[in-house]
Amino acid sequence: MARSARSKKRKRSKQRVKAIAEEPFNEEPVGPLVEKYWLQRYSLFSRYDEGIKMDEEGWFSVTPENIAMNHAQRCGGGSVIDGFTGVGGNAIQFARMCYHVVAIDIDPRKVQLAYNNAKVYGVEDYIDFVIGDFFKLATSLKGDAVFLSPPWGGPAYRTVENFTLDLLKPKDGYSIFQVAQKITPNIIMFLPRNVDLQQVEELSWLSSPPLNIEIEESYVHCNLKGTTAYFGGTALGKPDVS
Ligand SMILES: C[S@@+](CC[C@H](N)C(=O)[O-])C[C@H]1O[C@@H](n2cnc3c(N)ncnc32)[C@H](O)[C@@H]1O
Repeated sequence: MARSARSKKRKRSKQRVKAIAEEPFNEEPVGPLVEKYWLQRYSLFSRYDEGIKMDEEGWFSVTPENIAMNHAQRCGGGSVIDGFTGVGGNAIQFARMCYHVVAIDIDPRKVQLAYNNAKVYGVEDYIDFVIGDFFKLATSLKGDAVFLSPPWGGPAYRTVENFTLDLLKPKDGYSIFQVAQKITPNIIMFLPRNVDLQQVEELSWLSSPPLNIEIEESYVHCNLKGTTAYFGGTALGKPDVS
């Protein structure tokens, strides 16, 4: 596609996101399913009372703020692609610490909420919000690091003893990782605490030569909330920014 056509398309997409973000939305009442998460609201967003908005899926899938801050410390500046942005828990912290974020979600409502939440933190201008399918967009994206927090399949993930990568949604973890690798080897993946660690380590062998990998347990107040896998430059603390 010619550069001017691409830039027109990008402008139209930005206008669409802005229009959707500014539509008034009815806040969902806190039902019994999300009450447990609502009680943890300040661990999810320390500025919760300043106008943070969530939907039901957002409540149980947002990355807690201190964990998102740890993830952001690893991106080392440059640009980050957040392939599954949700209500913006990670995108906001990346924008606070890095230079630029491309925040993608397939659900327009999530992008609307993420935009609102980024405004609460005053970082909406550092984020390009995109409504779209990460798998379709990936080949046209450029970034110094890619962050992946795909759906874990809802709260039921906890009932599985060994969470294998094929349980990730909307595609298995190998496919998600391979798509991200087309953008950069500097990849951070946020996964369930019961994920099969052997399979996570196998991901580093998908690349030739194999990527550096570091696996970290992610806690909130001594409670294990997930597993973070850092690949490539992010495993060393700083991606190559070229
Ligand atoms: C676990 S949530 C992300 C949470 C996010 N890290 C946060 O802190 O708010 C996963 C998100 O992936 C989105 N999603 C699912 N399939 C997608 C796809 N093919 N492309 C982009 N986003 C997708 C869902 O709509 C959901 O909002």
